[in-house]
Amino acid sequence: MNDRLADYLKTRRTIPSVQLREPAPDRKTLRDMLTIAARVPDHGKLAPWRFIIFDRDTREAVVAGLIRIAKHAPDEKEGQTRAEKAKGFADAPLIVGVVSAPIVDHPKIPLWEQQLSAGAVCLNLLHAAQAHGFSAQWLTGWFAYDDEAKAWLGLKSGERVAGFIHIGTPAMPPSERDRPDLDAITTAWQPRTA
Ligand SMILES: Cc1cc2nc3c(=O)[nH]c(=O)nc-3n(C[C@H](O)[C@H](O)[C@H](O)COP(=O)(O)O)c2cc1C
Repeated sequence: MNDRLADYLKTRRTIPSVQLREPAPDRKTLRDMLTIAARVPDHGKLAPWRFIIFDRDTREAVVAGLIRIAKHAPDEKEGQTRAEKAKGFADAPLIVGVVSAPIVDHPKIPLWEQQLSAGAVCLNLLHAAQAHGFSAQWLTGWFAYDDEAKAWLGLKSGERVAGFIHIGTPAMPPSERDRPDLDAITTAWQPRTA
């Protein structure tokens, strides 16, 4: 067994994006991280996902656009809530948008499996950040589900946000949180008697 890898996987913890600071990965390091992220199980080898980079030079403009779009919320209070949440998009110094870009009517590979592969990309990117000395948080938010916001963020029709992976250097150590009761979620299959 690879003890170091097992130890890491046993203790992996998310650091909240608000606690992620400079330095962020440089271009080469980010490329290495994305290479790891893209090395996921992928039924049919379709690569049904892609990346959008939001770096320190573009974050402010992204947030300004999201705040403008937040004003289109059904009511003013919800608009204010959305605008506040949009500001969180500028917390970490680097965000990678992982976009699920499936072939919807593929004759063999179900849509669900293509979407699961995009989730695997997100998790691999969290691991890649950690492997390169950074931390990361997998977030979504209202702007992952709002059509106008999605278009502003660079998504095309038919694409969905698998996650915004916020990346930076942690300003705090990880803390533990409760984990699921394995016995409660694990069963051995038995034949049905009925
Ligand atoms: C698809 C997806 C979307 C998520 N979106 C959010 C989010 O918008 N806000 C949030 O606080 N946590 C979100 N999370 C949870 C965090 O990424 C993280 O899992 C959580 O803070 C628990 O930390 P842990 O990774 O150490 O278990 C999301 C997780 C997933 C898988």
